[in-house]
Order: sequence, then structure tokens, then C-alpha cells
Amino acid sequence: MWKPLEKIKYAPEPGIWPSQAEAGDSMWFSPLDFGNLHLDQRTWIPAMVPWRSTEEGIVTDRVLAWYERFAQGQPGCIVIEATGVRDVPSGPLMRIGHDRFVPGLKELADTVHRASDGKTKLFIQLIDFLSIRRRPAAENYFHRFLQITDDHRAALGAEDWPEEKIREHLSALEDEALDDILTGRELDDLRMGTRERVTDVKYEHIRELPEVLPRIFADAAERAQKAGIDGVELHYAHAYTMASFLSRKNDREDGYGGPRENRVRLPLEVYAAVRERVSDDYPVGCRYLSDEIIENGSDVEDAAYFGVEFAKAGMDFLSLSRGGKFDDAKQPGVGEAAYPYTGESGYECIPAYISDSFGPYGRNIQPTAFIRKAIRDAGLETPVVVAGGIHGFELAEKILQSGEADIVASARQSLADPDWFMKVKEGQGEEVRLCTYSNYCEGLDQKHKIVTCKLWDRLDMDQSDIQKTPDGKRRLIAPDWQA
Ligand SMILES: Cc1cc2nc3c(=O)[nH]c(=O)nc-3n(C[C@H](O)[C@H](O)[C@H](O)COP(=O)(O)O)c2cc1C
Ligand code: SF4
Repeated sequence: MWKPLEKIKYAPEPGIWPSQAEAGDSMWFSPLDFGNLHLDQRTWIPAMVPWRSTEEGIVTDRVLAWYERFAQGQPGCIVIEATGVRDVPSGPLMRIGHDRFVPGLKELADTVHRASDGKTKLFIQLIDFLSIRRRPAAENYFHRFLQITDDHRAALGAEDWPEEKIREHLSALEDEALDDILTGRELDDLRMGTRERVTDVKYEHIRELPEVLPRIFADAAERAQKAGIDGVELHYAHAYTMASFLSRKNDREDGYGGPRENRVRLPLEVYAAVRERVSDDYPVGCRYLSDEIIENGSDVEDAAYFGVEFAKAGMDFLSLSRGGKFDDAKQPGVGEAAYPYTGESGYECIPAYISDSFGPYGRNIQPTAFIRKAIRDAGLETPVVVAGGIHGFELAEKILQSGEADIVASARQSLADPDWFMKVKEGQGEEVRLCTYSNYCEGLDQKHKIVTCKLWDRLDMDQSDIQKTPDGKRRLIAPDWQA
């Protein structure tokens, strides 16, 4: 995990907890109605991948248990983890790219509605991503993957060498020498693993993304509605396809890259296709980045522009995250794939307790407020969701009261204590199990292991009828709250 230079350690800072009456009078626990979005409360659990579906991406009992447990705390909205829109193998990532996924998702929607007494809306995050390969052993890279070009020959002064000799020679060179011979992209393939970019227009399947993605997302959204899921969140954030279209690094020359107006075009076309396919009253919004936090990436000014465009197009909500890119990811080990939350941009996305002088709490508030203001200045009222290190009522309420956001989301705090919204609402804030921002959960995510929280995954292990990890060492859901 990347750490800021200062390496200051922070303990949780939840602030003062409200009485039941104060919570009842608060904005955070008050309803929100805008367009198609109708929430009982402005509390929200953003998407978190827990790696609990089958290898085919189908809902399992473990998936049901994960969301049922969150629903018992009755937040205003839970967003189902990033769920693949295509019908292609994706490991144990949930999928919605075919009608066969609908029955499992329907059971999930029923489970959440039942467990929350109908108080929680269940949305689903729809994701498309491009292919990424594991980092190859150098030997394999030079002998099997690298295409030998005239530039390599010229750099080596080896115009008349047989190809095999060039491969042998390259595989024996030190890193520094390779820096002068291979292109930046080839070095990246060697050191990080080959990863497709939206700018790889020489490949037909990448060139055609603008033609195929609107329909694929629309099909997925239609299935979500058919499954009884209450709304969709288009995943335009982090390291994935749609975020890459929005990125300042997208220099496609087909009208979908370059200036902001072009970069936002496909995200708007995807939204339009989805909007047309679901019913008029169905909530559709997106999650995108307030800042990419990478060199030459999009910043908060871009994000304000995108926000206004999304709002103008009629989205029902905009959820802001930050960072989480491949561009600054740590080098993976040989045989492992790069993970987009290991660099500075990853830190900004999922900040941990070791931080800089600002600290890990609320780093996304100011940029979100800037984006929301641009949307309001354009005369639009679209609700904006903020997340990032928020684990107390006082801060959440201040954000809402001061108009920095309209909905306050907590991912890890809700994992640490799925009952926390209920506890705070009932005036029992002192009972909240506070997230320590250890990022143990994120470490599990990185290894594609079933995600749990270190504060509860070894508690009451002798309790009967609890689901455990296959090695029997961790429980899969938090123990019940004995109110
Ligand atoms: C285990 C884990 C999985 C995550 N998966 C997703 C995801 O599928 N989609 C997404 O947009 N964000 C994902 N995130 C990011 C969170 O939604 C959230 O933005 C981030 O954790 C910061 O909020 P927090 O400080 O309240 O946890 C994930 C975070 C964690 C810890
Ligand atoms: S493991 Fe638990 S305490 Fe640690 S960051 Fe994740 S949710 Fe918070």
C-alpha cells in the first residue's frame, strides 16, 4: 500500500454522537426526493466488491448474506458491487451480461428489501473493463510476447541478426539498457503486464467500443430493472473503460477523445441508451472521479464540467470517488496482475490511517463541493454523493448542512459495523464499532479473497450456523448487534 511521506498515524475521529431526537431532526436521516431518486435517508453504502459470487459471476448464499447484513442497518441506499455488463468470464466478479444472471439478482433484491423492512433502496453498479494480463517473467516476455521491430534492430545495431538472437540479447540486458531500446508501452508490458487502453484503436474491439457499449450497458440496466433492483449506477470511475474515456489521457481521434466535449460523449451516449431502455421513473446515475490524481490526468475542473453535462442529460444522482488508477499502480510480482489501488491515486480512493497532515478523513469533500457548486450554478439540482473516510454523524451532518453534498456515503465504516446507521439513528452512537482504516479489507480485495473486516471476522467463531471462509478461519458476516 502506498503511504504519504509524512506517515502520521490517525485514530478514528467520529465526533459527537447525536441523541435520538437530534438524529431524528437531522438532514442525514431525512428523506431525499429528486427526479426518480426517493430515499428514506441520505445515508448510502457505496459499491464494495467482496469476491463472493461463483466463478461464473452468479449470486451465492455468501453474496446474499453480505447484502442482507448491510440491509439490517437500514441505510437509505446500498449499491451492489461493480457487476460486469458483458457475458465473458471474469473470475468471481458478479455479472449481469445475460438473462441467466437475473434470478440470482432477483433473490438479492428480495433479500435486501425484506431485511431492511423496505427502507433501503438497492442499486447496482454496472462496470465494463478492458483486459489486463499478469506480469510476465522477462524470459517469457522476450521469447513469446515482444514483437521485434526495426526500431529494436536499429537501437541494437543489429539489422542483420536473426530474430532469436535479438530476443536472447534483450533478455540478458539490464533494466537501464532496456529503457533506451524498448518503447514506453513495451516497458510497461514487461514490467506491469499487458493492459489494454481505450486508445488502442488499432484493435477492432477497442475501436468499436463507442458502437457496442451503449447497447451492452442498456441490456444490463434492463436486466437490473427486471430483477427488481431499484436503480443503476453506471461505473464511470477508477481504472475501468468508461473512466478511461473521461480521462484527459484519452487522445482518441474519432470524436471520443481529446477535448472534454469529446471525452464525455460516450458516457453520455451510454446514459442515453440506458435511459431509453428502462422505465421513465427508474433511477439512473453514475459514479465518477472528482480527480484522477495522476500525472496528466483529469482534475476537478474536468469533473465539474462532466458533472454539469451529466446533470443536464438528466441523471438522477452523481456519486464522486477519486483516484484508483492503473497509471501509478505498484509493480506487481511476476505472475500477478497490477492492482489500481496501490499507488498515490489508490490512496486517495481508499485512504488508510497512515496519512499526511490533512489526514485520511474527508479528502473528497472539498472537490465534491466544488463540483456540486458548478452543477448548482448551472441551475441544476442533481443530488451529489460524497464518500471517503466518513465515519461520524457530526461530519456527515456538517457536509449536508453546508451544502457540500446531498448524500453522505460510507463504505468501510459500514463494513466495520453494518448496524451503525441504525445505532446512530437510535441515539446509541457510543455503540458504533469504528473502522480503524487499516485497509485489511482492501488487502483481501487485492488478492481477490473473500472480503471481511478485521474487527469482527474472528469473533464468536463457535456460534452455530455462521458462514465461514473455506479454511474455517474467518466468519463471513458481522455478529448480530445485541441492542
Ligand atoms: C473492499 C473494497 C471494495 C471496493 N469495491 C468498489 C467497487 O466495486 N466499486 C467502487 O466504485 N468502489 C469500490 N470501492 C471504493 C469504495 O466504494 C469507497 O469509495 C472507498 O472505500 C472510500 O470510502 P470509505 O472511506 O467510506 O471506505 C471499494 C472499497 C473497498 C474497501
Ligand atoms: S478491515 Fe475493517 S477496520 Fe480495517 S479498513 Fe476495513 S472495514 Fe475498516
